[in-house]
Amino acid sequence: MSKFSVARLGVLAVLSFVGLVAAPTSHAQATGDAARGANIGYTCLGCHGIPNYKNAYPVYRVPKLHGQSAEYLVSALQAYRSGERSHGTMHANASSLDDRDILDVAAYLAGPAVKPPAEAKPVGTPPAAAAVCVSCHGTDGIGITPQYPSLAGQYDDYLIRALTDYKKGGRKNAIMAGFAGQLTAADIEQLAAYYSKQRSVLSSVPKASFGKR
Ligand code: HEC
Ligand code: HEC
Repeated sequence: MSKFSVARLGVLAVLSFVGLVAAPTSHAQATGDAARGANIGYTCLGCHGIPNYKNAYPVYRVPKLHGQSAEYLVSALQAYRSGERSHGTMHANASSLDDRDILDVAAYLAGPAVKPPAEAKPVGTPPAAAAVCVSCHGTDGIGITPQYPSLAGQYDDYLIRALTDYKKGGRKNAIMAGFAGQLTAADIEQLAAYYSKQRSVLSSVPKASFGKR
């Protein structure tokens, strides 16, 4: 069985838990070679290495990747490559990568693993709509397992874009399509404002990290 069908099984396992508890699943996850990934990731820094760099038409900031889990970055890249997430530039970027490249570049871009703290220390009061989100993304926006992206300190305009894409179908992830489908535009703005203000575990990919991993 390939690494990726194992990853897919993880997603299916999560799907079957939606509505109950988001149970952490333990499945084998191959680790990428970050040193090899640094050579592939060099071109990515033109956007992901520059704080506040903007996507044009529509305008929103390019997401911070450093501090996300490598496992999540792998699944995001697979989704751009397959078209499950529609974004022209990222489809082109991901399509130039084979499965091993994706594992390696994800390990490089993610950097050292960030573990959720024993006790969440959220900044401010979560909006009511966050009640369902916290079981996967944490009250403080740090993903409770590596399958779930961290939202803490991510750009608010990117979070709005991502949630709107799940709601409207530009992103077809089944878990998030279900949750985002319930949200109004006002909910989305409040959620983005809340999670973007949490103590950030995310940053642009540090240039100094190139070639040093
Ligand atoms: C021209 C700018 C640009 C370049 C170059 C670029 N990206 Fe991106 N990247 C983006 C934008 C914009 C998004 C958000 C797309 C969306 O709305 O889904 C994104 C999203 C991502 C995501 C998803 C992050 C998340 O939180 O889900 C990953 C992973 C990623 N890029 C990796 C890469 C890798 C790897 C490369 C190099 C091979 C790369 N990017 C090159 C602009 C860029
Ligand atoms: C059952 C677990 C679960 C719950 C509950 C959940 N999410 Fe997610 N979320 C995920 C997964 C898995 C992904 C990655 C999906 C993908 O591959 O595109 C994700 C992705 C996201 C992203 C995209 C992050 C990025 O970097 O692109 C945002 C934003 C988000 N979720 C916000 C929310 C909000 C807000 C709620 C509550 C309304 C919520 N999520 C509820 C599991 C969950």
